[in-house]
Amino acid sequence: MLMNTPSLPLLLVLTGLLAGCATNPKTGSPTLKDAYQDDFMIGVAINQKQFTGEDTNGAALIKAQFNSISPENVLKWEIIHPRPGENGYDFEPGDRYVDFGETNGMYIIGHTLIWHSQTPRWVFRDANGRALNGTNSADRELLLKRMHDHIQTVVGRYKGRIQCWDVVNEALNEDGTLRRSPWQRIIGDDYIEKAFQYAHEADPDAVLRYNDYSLENEPKRKGAIALIQKLQARGIPVTAIGSQSHVKMDWPALEQVDATLSAFAKLGVKVMITELDVDLLGRSESAEVAEMQREITSNVYSNGLPDAVQQALARRYAGLFSVFVKHRKDIALVTFWGVSDGDSWLNRGRMNYPLLFRRDHKPSPAFDAVINTAHR
Ligand code: XIL
Repeated sequence: MLMNTPSLPLLLVLTGLLAGCATNPKTGSPTLKDAYQDDFMIGVAINQKQFTGEDTNGAALIKAQFNSISPENVLKWEIIHPRPGENGYDFEPGDRYVDFGETNGMYIIGHTLIWHSQTPRWVFRDANGRALNGTNSADRELLLKRMHDHIQTVVGRYKGRIQCWDVVNEALNEDGTLRRSPWQRIIGDDYIEKAFQYAHEADPDAVLRYNDYSLENEPKRKGAIALIQKLQARGIPVTAIGSQSHVKMDWPALEQVDATLSAFAKLGVKVMITELDVDLLGRSESAEVAEMQREITSNVYSNGLPDAVQQALARRYAGLFSVFVKHRKDIALVTFWGVSDGDSWLNRGRMNYPLLFRRDHKPSPAFDAVINTAHR
C-alpha cells in the first residue's frame, strides 16, 4: 500500500500544478507572484518589523509571495524628515526598506512625497516655527523651497533604487475638485506640477505616480482624469496613476472598477492598484451585506470569521481580480495594503480580515480564489 502512495511534497507539487502551475518550488504551494507573472506584478505594503526581519514569518511570506513592495509608513514625511534644519532627516528605516527590496530583487515603491497627512506641522509654519493667528504661516516661496529640499533629498538618496514614487497623494475631494490642503492653500493649485517637476529632476528615470482613493466614484474619477490630462498638456512628467482601492464588500460595484480602469488606460500612463484591501467592518449600503455583518460598527468577528463571510470575501476578491485580469494589458502592478490580517490598518482595535493571509499567516479561501482567477 505504502509503496504506491505519492510523497507529500509530490502531492503538493501536483496540487500546485492543478492550481495553475504557480507553485513555490520550496513549499509546492501556489504563489501570487507566479500565478500573475503574465499579468502584472503583485506588491505588498510592508512595515519595519517585516523588512528588518524581526517578524520572521511576515518576511518569509513577503519574499515567497510578492515581487514588489511599498513602505507602509517609513518614507512618509513625518518619519523620514521629522525636523526642520540640517539634521532634520532620519534615513535609517528608509534605507533598510530599500535594502530589503534590493536584496530580494523587488520592484520598489516610494510612498509618499506630498500629502496633507503624516506631514509634520513645522512644514507649514513660518521660518521661525510660528503659526500666526493659529493658521499655517509659511508663504508660497518658503513652502516651495521646503518641498524642493525634501523631494531632492529623499528621491535623490534612492535614485535608481526606488523605481516608482507616489509624488502627490490624495489631492482631490470627492466631487473631483482640488482638496484645500495646506499645500494647495499656501502654494496654489500648481503645487502638484511643482512636485512632479522636482521629483523628475531628482530621478529622471523614476516612474512618477499620482495616487488617490475612491476613484471608482465617477465625480472623483473625472477629477483625476482631468488633473492628469492637465499635467500632461503642460508637459509635466506624470507617468502613472494609482488607484488605492480600499474597497468594501459592496462598494464599488465591479462595473465601476471596470469603467475606472478603462478610463485610466486611455490616459497613456501606467495604471496601478496601489493599496488594495477589503474592509469587512466598513459602513455598508446594501441591506444584505449589512445583515451579514449584523452590527457593522462593533467587533462582530472577534471570535473568527464565519464560513459564509469567508466565502463571500473570497467571491469578492475573485470578482475584483477578474476585472484586473480583464485589464491585464494596462495594469502594471496590484499592491495589497498589508501582509496578513493582523498587520492591517483596518483593525483599529477590532478584528478585521481585509487581506489574503490570516493572523497566523496561513492563506485564506480568498487567497485560493485570487490564485484561481489569474489569466491562463
Ligand atoms: C496608513 C497606514 O497603513 C497606517 O499604518 C497609518 O497609521 C496611516 O496611514 N492612504 C494611504 C496610506 O495613502 O499611506 C495610508 O496608510 C492608508 C490610506
